[in-house]
Amino acid sequence: MKKPLIDKDCVAKLEAALKYELGHFYLYKHLAICMQAYGYFGAAAYFEKESAEENGHAQKHIQFLNDMGVVAKLPSLAPEKEQPTSLYDAIELAYENEKDLLDYYKEAYKDSLDDAPVMVHLIDFVKFQTEAVSFYADILATMESEKDNKNVCMVIDHKLKKLAKNG
Ligand SMILES: [Fe+2]
Repeated sequence: MKKPLIDKDCVAKLEAALKYELGHFYLYKHLAICMQAYGYFGAAAYFEKESAEENGHAQKHIQFLNDMGVVAKLPSLAPEKEQPTSLYDAIELAYENEKDLLDYYKEAYKDSLDDAPVMVHLIDFVKFQTEAVSFYADILATMESEKDNKNVCMVIDHKLKKLAKNG
């Protein structure tokens, strides 16, 4: 086995990031199941696609740890407890979780400034999070300003369906 190229603290931070990404993989699967049950098939398809993307993000951490000579430990995941009761709730849950992870990566990035490979690896994740937070914030803003429009959920569901198909 190779000698690790990063210290224990850094491994712990990347394994915590891996846990977050797998947690999001799980969260989006949960949201997809809930939205399918409520008849929002566009949102269900979008969240299912998001879940696969989160799995890809987790894999990037596993690959990077391997490149650094570390065998990643897989975390145990807790079942999702919070059941969204509407499309708005589901989008809000997605927003809150993505925002939490953006804050985590901002801190991790600051701590990595003296270690170029880790810093470069984390830049992508800061970008992914910034885009995700802004995407869900925009949907929430539309839903809030159109709250008196009874078609707004179907409009958002349709938009998500198109995004799930075309990316
Ligand atoms: Fe992610």
